[in-house]
Amino acid sequence: MVTVTGAQLTEQFADFISRIQKATSTIELEAIDLEAFGKKSGVYTLLRKSLGNIPDVEERKKSGERFNHDARRVEQALEDRRSDLKILELNERLQTETIDVTLPARAETQGKIHPVTQVIEEITAIFADMGFSVAEGPDIESDEMNFDKLNIPESHPARQMHDTFYLQGNSNNPGGDGKTLLRTHTSPVQIRTMKAGKPPFRFIAPGSTYRCDSDITHTPMFHQVEGFVIDKNIHMGHLKGCIIEFLKAFFELDNVPVRYRPSFFPFTEPSAEVDIGCTRSREEIKIGAGADWLEVMGCGMVHPNVLRNCGLDPNEWQGFAFGMGVERLAMLKYGIPDLRTFFESDARWLKHYGFDALAIPSLIGGL
Ligand code: DAH
Repeated sequence: MVTVTGAQLTEQFADFISRIQKATSTIELEAIDLEAFGKKSGVYTLLRKSLGNIPDVEERKKSGERFNHDARRVEQALEDRRSDLKILELNERLQTETIDVTLPARAETQGKIHPVTQVIEEITAIFADMGFSVAEGPDIESDEMNFDKLNIPESHPARQMHDTFYLQGNSNNPGGDGKTLLRTHTSPVQIRTMKAGKPPFRFIAPGSTYRCDSDITHTPMFHQVEGFVIDKNIHMGHLKGCIIEFLKAFFELDNVPVRYRPSFFPFTEPSAEVDIGCTRSREEIKIGAGADWLEVMGCGMVHPNVLRNCGLDPNEWQGFAFGMGVERLAMLKYGIPDLRTFFESDARWLKHYGFDALAIPSLIGGL
């Protein structure tokens, strides 16, 4: 049985008060706090419990008063010292953790912007200047959006397994016909955006695209930018002017020879491929002049079936669309020779071909 004597209390009290006042850190103080008031074995916690064991009533009352007085004083001493130490510790930190604002800024930021991101930003800046907004769609698509609605019939070669990554299951595609895939182009964004809104439309849709293909000039994942305009009385002249303006701005040339070569896409009629003039030598391709031509994108007037599939009347609304490969444009503009290096995540490559994070492309500030 523990009993409390006045002498004991006096001794405890003096000891705590002196140690609290001498404590030099808040950590040390917390330890003393625990020793005095800890729930299980704190000195005052145990003393409080033992008070009831004092047999004499008067004695118990006196010890109780004494105990309360001491415990409160110790608590107060802890609190006072704690706030003093906090100030001391803060001052110490302020003195040691100095920042020398006169040091010169670090010469170079570490990170670089990947050429794919850079080129998408550049393309976005150019089309934003022509009044295009940016639309997006999911990478995991239904074959209905990726193919059917774009007037790509079941028999089209792009539908065969060797081109398209099909996915098992259809949880991402409720209401579809059950087949999900990784989109093979950004064209399904045309369908999604038309179905979700009302004409007129004028947007670009940049994003990742996937095809089951891998060699020197193909990677299974690559990027495209889709362009799409629907309005009244839109004709091929608008398409041609828009693309020429884009190519001049993108390649930063006043005059780019551009050729529209008849082609076929199921979702456009008529369709064309766009070539730009260039000179090819062994080492390099020089864009802007010369006897050679280089294909840079596909385009055409939006097929009436595509408009009908999205509930638009082709007699009322017309438009044009185009699609370009981002890596290809990046390679041409920045002289990057090998497509596969884009996705090897080699920090040295990124350091060489990457862009400054703070140099955001704009038509005013420069691309
Ligand atoms: N979707 C086509 C492809 O991936 C590119 C394309 C061509 C998009 C012509 C278009 C277009 O919008 O009009 O090969």
